[in-house]
Amino acid sequence: HAGHDMGATSQGTTLLPEGAALRELPLLANEARRPGLFKARLTAEPAVARFAEGQDTPILAYNGQSPGPLIEAFEGDRVEITFANRIGEEASTIHWHGMPVPADQDGNPMDPVAAGTDRIYAFVLPEGSAGSYWYHPHPHGKTAEQVYRGLAGAFVVKSKVDPVPAEYGDTVLVLTDLRLAADGSMPGNTMSDLMNGRVGDHVLVNGQKNPQLSVAEGARRRLRLYNATNARFLKLAFDGAPMTIIGADGGLIEAPVAAEDILIGPGERIELVVAFDRPGPATLKTLPYDRGWMGPGRPADAGLTLLTVNVSQTPAEVLPPLPERLRPIAPLPAPARSRRLVFTETMAMNASGMEMGFLINGRAFDMARVDIVTKAGETELWEIVNQADMDHPFHVHGTQFQVIAHERDGTVSKPRYLAWKDTVNVARGETVRLLLRQERPGPRMYHCHILEHEQLGMMGVLDVQ
Ligand code: C2O
Ligand code: CU
Repeated sequence: HAGHDMGATSQGTTLLPEGAALRELPLLANEARRPGLFKARLTAEPAVARFAEGQDTPILAYNGQSPGPLIEAFEGDRVEITFANRIGEEASTIHWHGMPVPADQDGNPMDPVAAGTDRIYAFVLPEGSAGSYWYHPHPHGKTAEQVYRGLAGAFVVKSKVDPVPAEYGDTVLVLTDLRLAADGSMPGNTMSDLMNGRVGDHVLVNGQKNPQLSVAEGARRRLRLYNATNARFLKLAFDGAPMTIIGADGGLIEAPVAAEDILIGPGERIELVVAFDRPGPATLKTLPYDRGWMGPGRPADAGLTLLTVNVSQTPAEVLPPLPERLRPIAPLPAPARSRRLVFTETMAMNASGMEMGFLINGRAFDMARVDIVTKAGETELWEIVNQADMDHPFHVHGTQFQVIAHERDGTVSKPRYLAWKDTVNVARGETVRLLLRQERPGPRMYHCHILEHEQLGMMGVLDVQ
């Protein structure tokens, strides 16, 4: 096979040849007998994957799949998913990342599902909530490991009226990060992984290394990109095919925006339309991005090929254009109050070795402590201040927010477009201002979505009353 990177090794292991056809994520079957209801079962359990020739890699999977099966439901649907925790000895949960579910259905660390037990998660998908969400475990202290071992899946909420032409398709691309030991197993986290977040040796797309997609010349494809890695920042561009941003975490933006490149931090999603007008291969590649790194062993972030689209010389049928307006987004009203969240890292050597702290407003996460109390229905201005040496992607549960400004060294810039977001990167030295309104009472988490930082304390509890 030409084009295989046989030097692609993960600590001495050769991955299975690249170049297989892109696998569409299997759909989670809806067992409901009536319209308006989505009913299914998700079992988290150990499984075996084959990433390298002759080597079995023990992983964790939902219904035997990693990434987990794709959940597709419509705005207005009621969702009832029975979660069976069969991973072994540990508690787990399912957190519906970005989805506006009631607090007691949110799968947060206060609400663990004990090993060997089941629970039903039930919620309604509100009108207007169409978007690219995902699901992953969120148990106390074990989230990072359960996710990198394989537990993560995409949850797409569709709208019955969608302005994006159906001819563009709708392809979900879940990006994950893999590191293998020489024996094919996944090594545990090192001290460097805990500090920097675990960054592996290979970025996989729907579980595959550099899969291939074939399209006709002139084709347009709608792609939903998910950064489901623990800690890898993905600055991406298609070599040979122009990209247009059409959506963010919480669905379509107001109007399409052409983009030379995109940056997707851990936990974030972007919806694109890509135009394939030039016959030949168009590759989705990583570009350099300095996210701050402590100590040696900084992994490569540039020059990785994630996906190859082979554009044939047979012209596509004439396609409808992308509409100039996608959907209106009402700006959130003036805030009732403002809050400041300061992210810091502390490193100190003591008798027992290196002591690290990943803190918000000087404190590490304590499940028993409420850090912020807010009122349902009131808009707040949140200022996320990153005084640390690494980028930290900020995520909040329960609602979506609108970023209004980025500030660095006294220079304020507005985002290029208004969007509903649930995760936003806060670069080192930067302050991000966002408007946030919680609608549903109960406890909610906010945290850094570098999952090792979340584990080490960069998380707080918001009580919505
Ligand atoms: Cu995607 Cu609190 O997490
Ligand atoms: Cu962080």
